Amino acid sequence: MSYALTVDGLTVDFNGFKAVDNFTTTIDTGELRVILGPNGAGKTTLMDLISGKTTSTSGEVKLFGREITRLNEHQIARAGIGRKFQIPSIFRDLSVMQNLEVSASGEPSVFKNLKYSITQEEKQKIEEVIELTDLSDVLKSSAGDLSHGQMQWLELGMLITQDAKVILLDEPTAGMTKQETMKTADIIKKLKGKHTILVVEHDMAFVRDIAERITVMHLGKLLAEGDIDTIEKDEAVREAYLGSGGIH
Ligand SMILES: Nc1ncnc2c1ncn2[C@@H]1O[C@H](COP(=O)(O)OP(=O)(O)OP(=O)(O)O)[C@@H](O)[C@H]1O
Ligand SMILES: [Mg+2]
Repeated sequence: MSYALTVDGLTVDFNGFKAVDNFTTTIDTGELRVILGPNGAGKTTLMDLISGKTTSTSGEVKLFGREITRLNEHQIARAGIGRKFQIPSIFRDLSVMQNLEVSASGEPSVFKNLKYSITQEEKQKIEEVIELTDLSDVLKSSAGDLSHGQMQWLELGMLITQDAKVILLDEPTAGMTKQETMKTADIIKKLKGKHTILVVEHDMAFVRDIAERITVMHLGKLLAEGDIDTIEKDEAVREAYLGSGGIH
C-alpha cells in the first residue's frame, strides 16, 4: 500500500492535557480525507503536529514512508507538506502572477525571485494553476486587492505550484459566500488523485460534496472513520456532537 501519510499514536501533552491523544490513521496517496469533530476536538492541533508547528510528545508521522516526526516546520514543508492558513500567506504587494512565480521557483527569498526566470516546466505548472483557480483576469492585480475567496484560491494555488505532495487545509471555506464555497469544492475535487489532501471543515454541505472518507476526532482521539453515510449514522459521533449543534 502506498500511504502518503501515516500517523501512528500521535500525542501532544500540554501540561497534562492531551489535545491529540494517541491518534492513528493512514492516508492513501491521492486521497482526499475530511477531518470532522466538534470544537476543541484537536483537529487544528493535529495539523500543527503534522506540519511541525507543534512538536509531538510521542508517536510518529511518516510521509511516503519516511519519518518526519522530528523535523522542524521548514524541513517538513521542504519534504512536501503544504499548509493553507486561515490568513493566507501570500505576498500582498506582489501581483498574483508574481506570487505564483515565487512559489513555483521554490526560492526562499522573494527578492531573489523577482530576478529569477522561471523554467518552461514551472511556467506550465503556473498556467495549470491559473486555470484551476480561475485567476486569469486578475493576474496583474496586487494579491492584497483580491476578494476573500480569490486570496484563498491563490494561496491554495501556490501550494500546488510549490509542488506540495500533501496539502493540509484547515476550514478553507471559512468566511466564504455560498458561491465561493462551491467553487472551492470544485477546485478541491479537481485536485483529488493528483495531490493528497487533508481538509478540516464544519460546513456539512461542503463535506457532503467533496468527501469520500471521513475521520471524526473527539477529545483528541479518533472516534470514527468511514464514508459519510456511516459517519452520520454512527451513534458515538452523534453523541459527540450533542450540544454543539449536531453534525447536520
Ligand atoms: N498550545 C496549547 N496549549 C494548551 N492547550 C491547547 C494548545 N493548543 C490547543 N489547545 C487545546 O487543545 C484543544 C484542541 O484544540 P484545537 O484547536 O486543535 O481544536 P479544533 O478541533 O481545531 O477546534 P475548532 O473546531 O474549534 O477549530 C482545545 O481544548 C484547545 O484549547
Ligand atoms: Mg480548529
